[in-house]
Amino acid sequence: MLYVPLKRLKAGMTLARPIRFATSKEPLVNTGQVLTEKMLRRLREFRIIGAYIEADIAEGVEVKEIISTEEKEEIAEDLKGVYNGFLEERNMSSRLVNDIFEVSDKLMNIVLSKDEFLLNVIDIKDYDNYTYSHSMYVGILSMLTGIKLGLTRGDVSILTTAGLLHDIGKVDVPLDIIQKNGPLSDSERDIMKKHPEFGVKRLLRLSGITSEIVGAVYSHHEKVDGTGYPQGIKGDKIPYFGKIIALADVFDALTSVRSYRNAWHANEVIEYMMGCANTHFDMQLLKTFLKVVAAYPVGMMVRLSDNTTALVIKNSESNVLRPTVRILKPGEEVAALGAKRGTEVDLFHEKEYYNITVKESLNEAEEGEFFDQGDYFINSGEEKEEIKTESQQE
Ligand SMILES: [Fe+2]
Repeated sequence: MLYVPLKRLKAGMTLARPIRFATSKEPLVNTGQVLTEKMLRRLREFRIIGAYIEADIAEGVEVKEIISTEEKEEIAEDLKGVYNGFLEERNMSSRLVNDIFEVSDKLMNIVLSKDEFLLNVIDIKDYDNYTYSHSMYVGILSMLTGIKLGLTRGDVSILTTAGLLHDIGKVDVPLDIIQKNGPLSDSERDIMKKHPEFGVKRLLRLSGITSEIVGAVYSHHEKVDGTGYPQGIKGDKIPYFGKIIALADVFDALTSVRSYRNAWHANEVIEYMMGCANTHFDMQLLKTFLKVVAAYPVGMMVRLSDNTTALVIKNSESNVLRPTVRILKPGEEVAALGAKRGTEVDLFHEKEYYNITVKESLNEAEEGEFFDQGDYFINSGEEKEEIKTESQQE
């Protein structure tokens, strides 16, 4: 399957994965459906960032799921129950602690049953119910980082639970601030910045909550150089789990669409986060975190440093910036090495390619002309004819 950004999706393309939204139980578009102009208008309305389609050039390229859409829905539903429990005074009991640990255990069992520990960002973003999805994604990313760090199962469980609860204090921030369509004013931001404290106040009323969870929730907006909040503490003074959740939180927030900006691509977020090592983030933890998120997700088209167009077919946790790619249109240097269309190159292990880097993902970019060539469809019958005619006429 091939990932095609919204701008490049066209009528006649066949969906390789369903697209769904929290507002509707049924997918907007299902696997195997051929896109129509009407569907495209709906996808634009919902501001989806792109979709997986069937394409000859991406034959055999499978995107492994860490968590299926159905599983995401189930977890989000469970989280909704827990968050509602926090809103109802009568439920402030140790039962709520059990409930949240159950959710995090369920999530752990799902993730540990897969042999994939590298997150494809596009994969995770197909289910978007912001209230609960952000908490769930922060939980998953924190969990993967914890596993990669070699923490015990018990510690990963605590870390995941803290990730799921990190923004629980937002239930006490007025809804008009939470739902504001645009950047916050100074006074609104001051109230918003109180959510770690609000969260801790709620958590401390629960018997059975661990001090690690409380510490992590309180400190997830601290920065290692001391410029964060609420305490402005530095480096090792910041709880370990709080520093991990900070990474997961920033990564998920920036790769999500906001009312006032589009989602960033994973590679852009990774570049940004690397720029914040030792100021915002702990360098060692960031290094581990970068082993659990794919900069260039499988199925994505990229441009290499010599202008080769290529398709990402596999990622390596050893270096998320140097995936294995399938060459689609060789540039000068890649061609000189004898790589033709269809050659697969492991940019991390194959030494002759050491000076070739991934320059950018072919997404929103005007230079995404490759998407317009129309030679990657495997649609049958009339749809295909129609598109070929269309692209030949252009
Ligand atoms: Fe937060």
